[in-house]
Amino acid sequence: MQKPEERNETIITEFTLHGFGDLRDLQIPLFVVFLVIYIMTIVGNLIIVVLVVRVQHLHTPMYFFLGNLSCLEICYSSTILPRMLASFLTQNQAVSIYSCFLQLWAFAVFAAVECYLLAAMSYDRYLAICRPLYYSTLMNLKICLRLVAGSWIGSFVINTASFLFISQLSFCGHNVIEHFFCDFTPLINLACSGAQQVKLVSAILASFATLPPFILTVTSYVYIIAAILRIPSATGRQKTFSTCSAHLIVVTIFYGTLTIVYVLPDTNELKELNKVFSVFYTILTPLVNPLIYSLRNKEVKEALRKSGSQFCNSHKSALTSCFQIL
Ligand SMILES: *[C@@H]1O[C@H](CO)[C@@H](O)[C@H](O)[C@H]1NC(C)=O
Repeated sequence: MQKPEERNETIITEFTLHGFGDLRDLQIPLFVVFLVIYIMTIVGNLIIVVLVVRVQHLHTPMYFFLGNLSCLEICYSSTILPRMLASFLTQNQAVSIYSCFLQLWAFAVFAAVECYLLAAMSYDRYLAICRPLYYSTLMNLKICLRLVAGSWIGSFVINTASFLFISQLSFCGHNVIEHFFCDFTPLINLACSGAQQVKLVSAILASFATLPPFILTVTSYVYIIAAILRIPSATGRQKTFSTCSAHLIVVTIFYGTLTIVYVLPDTNELKELNKVFSVFYTILTPLVNPLIYSLRNKEVKEALRKSGSQFCNSHKSALTSCFQIL
């Protein structure tokens, strides 16, 4: 392995994020589209958080997890979208090596917490559907808090360990990242040496972070679906399934696109397609989660309707009293 000095190349301190390629004419339309997506993501998830905190009958483990997931989605999309919007607007694609590392680390931490929270949510549904008699002893506020705290700590430790390896890499020569954010593979491929070892170590650490929650999620759903199929009446089946269908959709989209991008081999033909799939799990999942939950979940829909009419009523009376004073 050659040292960078021997190759007579300067050490890189800055990367160029290639974004979606040379779409010069599309910069402004893309800016508008992603700005709308970002605003909708923040507003949608904030509404869920406010509902979960304020509406009394949503004070159950399932909705606590949902509220926490929405908080997470806000952080998660904020690691990627603001930077992307700025580069659409200013056409400045340069990013320092430190902010690139920081983005990769923050994104990885949030993504792993998402895996754990989704797993905790499917375990919660498993207990509610398959162990209804023990549900309240096996899943209470204290256990919820522990699961949420454990998700954050576990993700932080694993990703920071893997980050320590990545930060040992040096970069020289080519500095264009063929992606819209500092993702693992495009970044590692630019390292002048040691990329293979770091890839191996990170893959092992990443499987610690993602395999246990993935297996837990799949196992929970196997049991849930088996239990639902055993329910004799069709309406009973439908009713039980409706309590977890929104979550099942979210889990499938998240793991599906994540697998396509990180598990399938990184060939040239897949490169452009990978960018498209990355848009799904980085940008669209945080946007669609609140939509799926508010459209598919009766309790959330009901709470939303009530709070909406309450809000209108209180403002109506404020407005009328204004007019009366005038
Ligand atoms: C997150 O979860 C904890 C415990 O499960 C809960 O007390 C808290 O209210 C949740 N936060 C939100 C915003 O839902």
